[in-house]
Amino acid sequence: MKTVFAHRGIPTLAPENTLSAFSLCKPHGIQWIECDVDILADGTVVVSHDDTLDRCTDRSGSLYDIHSGDLALIDAGSWFADAFIGERIPTLDQLIALVNQDELNINVEIKSCRAGWAMTEQLIDNVITALAKLDPGRQLIVSSFNHLALAEFKRRRPQTAVACLFEAGQLGEDWLSAMQKCQADCIHPADRGLTQQMIADFKAAGYQVNVYTVNDLARANQLFNWGVDGVFTDIPHRFPAKYRT
Ligand code: G3P
Ligand code: MG
Repeated sequence: MKTVFAHRGIPTLAPENTLSAFSLCKPHGIQWIECDVDILADGTVVVSHDDTLDRCTDRSGSLYDIHSGDLALIDAGSWFADAFIGERIPTLDQLIALVNQDELNINVEIKSCRAGWAMTEQLIDNVITALAKLDPGRQLIVSSFNHLALAEFKRRRPQTAVACLFEAGQLGEDWLSAMQKCQADCIHPADRGLTQQMIADFKAAGYQVNVYTVNDLARANQLFNWGVDGVFTDIPHRFPAKYRT
């Protein structure tokens, strides 16, 4: 079965990684979402791609310097459109409640936390605590570009499917050893530079292959024909309905 993952929700219709962006998935018949998570100074896990407030809020500065009490004062919607004024950076707990309510499936991408290894370990622990609240019927993949963090996550929660993310050009000959060190179930490569042969190699090694970020329907079809299982996209609502489940 081929799948589309709503990349940061539907970020072409609502501000990325907000509850509004994820709430649009169910009405569009989309089952799989992808979100990015990082940690605040007090250990709260939040849904955010960047580790600064600069691009997607009305504030600036580092996520690692703020506390959960600050979230109510930070606007994460007005940068996108006035209709979203008052939108907040969600916590992972809040997003999991929405996933349960809307019966979604979720790929949680653990960001490469730049606050050091101790905070990275706290992030992993707190993500695991949050994931315990996911309803048993929900499907879950945890991924990361930080393969050390991913291996540590898998060690602590072996029952969860994990995916190594690779940037474009990062897929050298050692991709397989990275996957093995993490006991990964899926590979999440960048679309740029990906060839039919590389996908054949991933599939021959037994991995599920989900490619990011594919915003061109013709390219998505080509990838699916090459054996790719899923694509992350900013336009999941424009994909044929058969791919959204
Ligand atoms: O998880 C797929 C994709 O989200 C990885 O890249 O930078 O959009 O988080 P990025
Ligand atoms: Mg991501």
